[in-house]
Amino acid sequence: MVIMTEPKRFRYQTIPASFVMDHLGEFGPEDMVLDFGCGNGRNAVPILRRGAHVTLYDRNPKALAEAERAAKKTGGRFDVVRANDSGLPRKYDKILLIGVLHMYPEKSGIISECHSFLKDDGLLYSSSFGTPKHCKSPYCFSSPVDFADAHYACGFEHMGMRIVVERSNGFFEGVFRKAVDK
Ligand SMILES: C[S@@+](CC[C@H](N)C(=O)[O-])C[C@H]1O[C@@H](n2cnc3c(N)ncnc32)[C@H](O)[C@@H]1O
Repeated sequence: MVIMTEPKRFRYQTIPASFVMDHLGEFGPEDMVLDFGCGNGRNAVPILRRGAHVTLYDRNPKALAEAERAAKKTGGRFDVVRANDSGLPRKYDKILLIGVLHMYPEKSGIISECHSFLKDDGLLYSSSFGTPKHCKSPYCFSSPVDFADAHYACGFEHMGMRIVVERSNGFFEGVFRKAVDK
């Protein structure tokens, strides 16, 4: 896997991603959720408040500590796993992959990891920067089709009408499930 370093002046967003808020009603107490590359936990917080169990997963210990503090305040059920330490002990009903893929020139490693961490009937909520006018990374996706194809290549398919869209802030996003072998 290619390991990218954070830009020095990188600042985490503080309000939850609109993509997550749009789908918040789909999360409930029965869900085991993985927040892959959780950063400061801004997206985990509203999901914890819905009663879901959330695994906060990141390779950056400072971000994880911040996410843990935010999660504790919700009183919700969560655990904290540093990426690369010990892998993950379980499979998940839902995985958030928000704002991570644009950091990698080659996306298949991360998307395939998500595929392996997801239950067979689970859902992947994936969102990543598109057009470079919104993000300085040279590894943004070039189009929603490019974004979708990267997921299809790793064994995912679309969830019906929840199609990949481009937001005004330049994010491409979609809900995916595991493709069933025909
Ligand atoms: C741009 S931040 C987005 C954080 C959060 N998802 C959000 O929406 O605010 C990307 C995060 O992904 C984490 N990350 C990047 N590659 C990772 C990997 N291979 N495993 C776990 N975390 C990773 C980084 O440490 C960083 O915290």
